[in-house]
Amino acid sequence: MIEIKDVRKSFGDLDVLKGINITIHDGEIYGIIGQSGAGKSTLLRCINGLEDFQSGTITVDGTPVSLEDPRKLHLLQKNMGMIFQNFNLLSRLDVYDNVALPMKFWGMKTKTPEAKEKIRGLLELVGLEDKIHARPAELSGGQKQRVAIARALVLDPKILLCDEATSALDPAITRGILSLLQEINRKLGITIIVVTHQMEVVKQICERVSFLKGGQVLAEGRPEELFVKPIKEVKAFLQEESALLPETGVNIQMFFTDQSSDPVITMMARELDTNFSICWAKLEDFRSSVYGSLVINVKEEDKEKVLAYLDRTGVSWEVL
Ligand SMILES: Nc1ncnc2c1ncn2[C@@H]1O[C@H](COP(=O)(O)OP(=O)(O)O)[C@@H](O)[C@H]1O
Ligand SMILES: [Mg+2]
Repeated sequence: MIEIKDVRKSFGDLDVLKGINITIHDGEIYGIIGQSGAGKSTLLRCINGLEDFQSGTITVDGTPVSLEDPRKLHLLQKNMGMIFQNFNLLSRLDVYDNVALPMKFWGMKTKTPEAKEKIRGLLELVGLEDKIHARPAELSGGQKQRVAIARALVLDPKILLCDEATSALDPAITRGILSLLQEINRKLGITIIVVTHQMEVVKQICERVSFLKGGQVLAEGRPEELFVKPIKEVKAFLQEESALLPETGVNIQMFFTDQSSDPVITMMARELDTNFSICWAKLEDFRSSVYGSLVINVKEEDKEKVLAYLDRTGVSWEVL
């Protein structure tokens, strides 16, 4: 478990983290989303001790992250693999030696039968067995990130930190990398923290997410809670245009948290013997479920009975 408690950090006069509280459970895929400059990378660097912070605490499985005891810090860092937007591979080394690099850093032999088996196994996991002796220049962006993932796993970490790992990749390649991260999370039981400015990333793989703005967590929860019914700041971040809605009657937005709510609309029309128009609708995929929201326009005199009906059926709603 990673516990971040009231962490504050500034660079000179600039307050970059203003009291961050986040708890990440073992085996979770946790997202930290926000605009550029929100403080996401700084927070990630504080978690793995690449950056110091002025106050608050971060503990990993009960051990505080502190720069004061370098030996302890190194042991903690060994348990955390990290991948980046620009892959950070060494161009003069082939794929095998790039993956082996952290072992070298720890003074481990990289060409023993065990090491070879380990690295071959990892390259198989990331789907690059046939590129074992290729140089980074011969690989596509997606393949480079796969090498970086294998490298991040070579010391058997318990946690994988991803800083904008898919931001330089096109959508199809991104989906492949995200599926791979999910597979790693499932197969190896590794906790994954995903820092990103891309909502798609969070929607596809994160179980929980924090929305960071100006060094503060403004919203936290399951992605479907954050994005289907967003608070003002999240809406602005998503740059969601408000729908053009009728100026007469009453506009009611409904939120569906699973597909079974779909018939509510048609049943309501039938049971209340009323007419309404559908003004706007949105359906979104979150991991394996679909979530949606719908705006209907009803006549003023129907408002009360429609809202009472929605309450009876348990649909959550908001009058706009
Ligand atoms: N080493 C540094 N020195 C001074 N300011 C920094 C440093 N690193 C980051 N910052 C500033 O901290 C803020 C947050 O940066 P960062 O954590 O990289 O945000 P994000 O990853 O969300 O884009 C930005 O205003 C950035 O300019
Ligand atoms: Mg960043």
